Amino acid sequence: MKIIMLGAPGAGKGTQAKQIAEQYNIPHISTGDIFRENIKNGTPLGAKAKEYMDQGLLVPDELVCDLVVDRIEKDDCSKGFILDGFPRTIPQADALDTALKEKNKQIDYALDIEVPDENIVNRMAGRRSCKECGAIFHLQYNPPKEENKCDVCQGELVLRDDDKAETVKKRLDVYHEQTAPLISHYEKAGVLHEIDGTVDITVVFEEIKKILGA
Ligand code: AP5
Ligand code: MG
Repeated sequence: MKIIMLGAPGAGKGTQAKQIAEQYNIPHISTGDIFRENIKNGTPLGAKAKEYMDQGLLVPDELVCDLVVDRIEKDDCSKGFILDGFPRTIPQADALDTALKEKNKQIDYALDIEVPDENIVNRMAGRRSCKECGAIFHLQYNPPKEENKCDVCQGELVLRDDDKAETVKKRLDVYHEQTAPLISHYEKAGVLHEIDGTVDITVVFEEIKKILGA
């Protein structure tokens, strides 16, 4: 099962992708998480990515495409994978299609989680992510059991550097300009599914399971 997640920043891609990965036993590959891990470890890739991420801009395609194409060729992706945050531009989608086509494969599901811009800024301000394992919480909609502590690994919960209101607005502009065109790309490929992302997290997941077949 080869799945990609589409949707604006804060739509709930990571929240749902983690649950899908667990339910269907396939790896969750988040390019944002990969970059944040590189930033945390002080790698050259992390330093380059940070320049763009802090401004709410996309990291250049050439830093992303090979990284993802190499990742989905690993053994643990033989039964499928879920891509979260990639592709984000038409050239990225083309690079993915080409890499899959070489192996006679294609994306099976493009899940587009739809949330209007008005809801996003509020969601981002309340998001807290685990510094250690990346688990995602929300102060109001998905609070941790203990304040500021991850339910999964007890790590510290932090606000992401790019979740300041001005940066979120920039990320939304970039989404509409560069990533939203992917919706029609995957519609043409016949694999697009649109999902209402404004309802409760558990209801969104039920909808996704209906699409994927639980
Ligand atoms: P990335 O990390 O991918 O960020 P994003 O796409 O902006 O998306 P987010 O992670 O912010 O949101 P999400 O949809 O995962 O929502 P979440 O589940 O956390 O990318 C960051 C940056 O890295 C980019 O700006 C770019 O610079 C760079 N980058 C990454 N990939 C790239 C690529 N391919 N090319 C170029 N650059 C790239 O949910 C948000 C909050 O809402 C949480 O608090 C959650 O608990 C809550 N929530 C979720 N669902 C619901 C619900 N149904 N109801 C109420 N609350 C909910
Ligand atoms: Mg995410």
